Amino acid sequence: MSKEKKARGYLSGREIRAITKANKKVMKRLEAQKYRKAEESEFLTEMKDPGNILEIDNLHTYFFTEQGVVKAVNGVSFNIPKNATVGIVGESGCGKSVTSMSVMRLLQGPQGQIYSGSIRFKAYDYKLDEKGKPVPAPAGSATPYEMEEKVYDIAQMPMREIHRIRGKQIAMIFQEPMTSLNPVFTIGQQLDEVTFIHTPGATKEDAKARSIEMLNLVGIAMPERVYGAFPHELSGGMRQRVMIAMALAADPRLIIADEPTTALDVTIQAQILDLLRNLKDKIDGSILLITHDLGVIAEMADYVVVMYAGKVIEQGTVEEIFHNPMHPYTIGLQKSKPTLQSNDDTLFNIPGNVPNPINMPDYCYFKERCDKCVKACSGEYPCMVQVSPTHFVACHLYDKEVDHG
Ligand SMILES: Nc1ncnc2c1ncn2[C@@H]1O[C@H](COP(=O)(O)OP(=O)(O)OP(=O)(O)O)[C@@H](O)[C@H]1O
Ligand code: SF4
Ligand SMILES: [Mg+2]
Repeated sequence: MSKEKKARGYLSGREIRAITKANKKVMKRLEAQKYRKAEESEFLTEMKDPGNILEIDNLHTYFFTEQGVVKAVNGVSFNIPKNATVGIVGESGCGKSVTSMSVMRLLQGPQGQIYSGSIRFKAYDYKLDEKGKPVPAPAGSATPYEMEEKVYDIAQMPMREIHRIRGKQIAMIFQEPMTSLNPVFTIGQQLDEVTFIHTPGATKEDAKARSIEMLNLVGIAMPERVYGAFPHELSGGMRQRVMIAMALAADPRLIIADEPTTALDVTIQAQILDLLRNLKDKIDGSILLITHDLGVIAEMADYVVVMYAGKVIEQGTVEEIFHNPMHPYTIGLQKSKPTLQSNDDTLFNIPGNVPNPINMPDYCYFKERCDKCVKACSGEYPCMVQVSPTHFVACHLYDKEVDHG
């Protein structure tokens, strides 16, 4: 192979075969772990802070490709407090969706795998007896089985147990509702299905009543008509409302909304965001909102997590991130946000590109694009520095221990 090709990262057939062989070994181990039979005790854990509903701790999610290992999520940690909205923001490809797909365990295997780390989730689930069977509730109880609060490490749960939380305790709203709704079933059939899956013993009448209630809750004016309609008969905004109704039907504790308004036009976007904001209080739950739009984050979130190249580089309350951004990347993101005053000539662009995710450097991933570099920036990757009880930043500029020369 020519030197030029080598420099551009081309791999020889031999190198690709060696990578594939190494990948196969790791993927086999991780797949076996995913599909193992496990007692509940193997994935029961404790929250570090009981005020949180979700704690992501040093999560590593990789894609094993023949070009090498893509470290899409590379040591991500953040918490979602109860009843809070946490926004994840960052440029395209920084790992926002892969983080949420890891929480839902929706990664496409065997290539996509949670490699290490914990995802602690405070669930409200059936109490189990010593044989692992749900304990029946006394006659007259609201649920057929006894319920209790317990903490699962989602990263350790075998796939056969994921139904306990996915779609039920944690629901997801995707960017493009048309691809998430099944075109051959009516809205009513698809909504009823959620109740049938998650409420043991629900009758057809119960399911329909619940579906109509959810359609009402998301502001659909003629719920009976929409109940009988097929997805293609609805507008994009209506379909997104239906998706939100589906997410709510199982009464989740956490809703993950991945770019929920990106496919919609501006006025409908505002309506859907209003809807999500109001719903959080009604359902007594939390929201993880993923977007590349800082304006949406500013309006919706209580806490903000800024991601760059698979890592969290800054996090804090919405006031801290907007009024006192510290990381040069967060400052750049804010400058690149379009305003009514800006036009194409004045819009700021963070110069340069994200490094290749297969060959990340050992030093700060933002170094090639940063105009504030100090001596330490050529050294080790910066540690997370705490600047307030809630504000953290990974940048040498704020680390008192390092050389600022
Ligand atoms: N199936 C896959 N195989 C290989 N790499 C993948 C795969 N899916 C995602 N990636 C890589 O993981 C990284 C993170 O992707 P992710 O989809 O999480 O980005 P994102 O922050 O959601 O971006 P966007 O704003 O465009 O949605 C990217 O480098 C992407 O190329
Ligand atoms: S650590 Fe250095 S290179 Fe990285 S963002 Fe901070 S100043 Fe810039
Ligand atoms: Mg995405």
